[in-house]
Amino acid sequence: MGQNQQQQSQKIITIERHVLQTQRLYPEATGRLTNLLYDLALAGKYIASKTSRAGLAQILGHTGQTNVQGEKVMKLDQLADQAIFDLIDHTGRLAVMASEEHENLIPIPEKYPCGEYVLLFDPLDGSSNIDYNVSVGTIFAIHRRKTSQGPGTMADILQPGRTMVAAGYIVYGASTMFVYSTGHGVDGFTLDPDIGEFLLTHPNIRIPEPPQYYSANQGYQSLWSPSVVAYTHWLQGIGSSNHDALSQRYVGSLVTDFHRNMLAGGVYYYPADIEHPQGKLRLLYEAAPLAFIAEQAGGLASNGHDSILDIQPEKLHQRTPLFIGNRSLVTKAEKFINN
Ligand code: AHG
Ligand code: MN
Ligand code: MN
Repeated sequence: MGQNQQQQSQKIITIERHVLQTQRLYPEATGRLTNLLYDLALAGKYIASKTSRAGLAQILGHTGQTNVQGEKVMKLDQLADQAIFDLIDHTGRLAVMASEEHENLIPIPEKYPCGEYVLLFDPLDGSSNIDYNVSVGTIFAIHRRKTSQGPGTMADILQPGRTMVAAGYIVYGASTMFVYSTGHGVDGFTLDPDIGEFLLTHPNIRIPEPPQYYSANQGYQSLWSPSVVAYTHWLQGIGSSNHDALSQRYVGSLVTDFHRNMLAGGVYYYPADIEHPQGKLRLLYEAAPLAFIAEQAGGLASNGHDSILDIQPEKLHQRTPLFIGNRSLVTKAEKFINN
């Protein structure tokens, strides 16, 4: 092999190779977390293949059911939820799971062994966009179990984000990307559909400064508090602001909005409002995993008062206001809210 060819082949780093390489840096690693990340990457490939054929396979639209949040369950929500469960339930790596689509925790079937990790997930985020061919995603958080043996319990589920051992998301967009962190920075992989592998394309992602975007559903501005409106004016370069206006971008899929801001710099916020006193987004499987990723990329996530990672959850489907992105923009939001 010529030197040039050798250099080129060395550049191809699959997700498998990357996770293994990272694991070798930590002698305490057992490999079980590594395998769990592969399982999730496989689930991502499966969901990507289904979402890209959704119109053809007649799996658009809703199931006719509503979930515990009172939201319409789309056929793809259910398919993604089932895929993640089916690909991981039997592996012996998990003690328990929890998903947006299940009111209670999801036990590991008795016929399979229980493991040391806990998986929380939003199987399909942004599902109101599914029927319109707009990017959606999957979000996941992994904790070590707190209980020592037997089936996992709610005590294993209700852990603050600080104790997370890994988190990530998958974007089903123009291309499919898998972005994850095990607490040693953030790396992004793009699915090469020809070979069916996630390849490292975005090593060591850091949220850039200066930021370019703010992302919020301004359709609800009349429901916001005066401090959130004042913060929005500040982002727009109005009033006390000492910078040019940021551009506004809002897709309505948290994963997609967050991912863009991770690469371009920006803040996403879904504040508390008159109709959603606790905000809309769920702490355990939406806000906390993305907060973990944001901090690992040099950013921050807050509910307006405290870091999202420091919140002790009380309920599985607990909601939280969320401000997430560049540290400078999130601390500014806290200042507006606490004044
Ligand atoms: P999900 O599809 O998992 O229920 O999440 C939807 C969330 C989030 O992805 C998005 O940012 C937000 O809801 C959009 O809400 P609005 O339509 O109220 O802006
Ligand atoms: Mn969601
Ligand atoms: Mn969802």
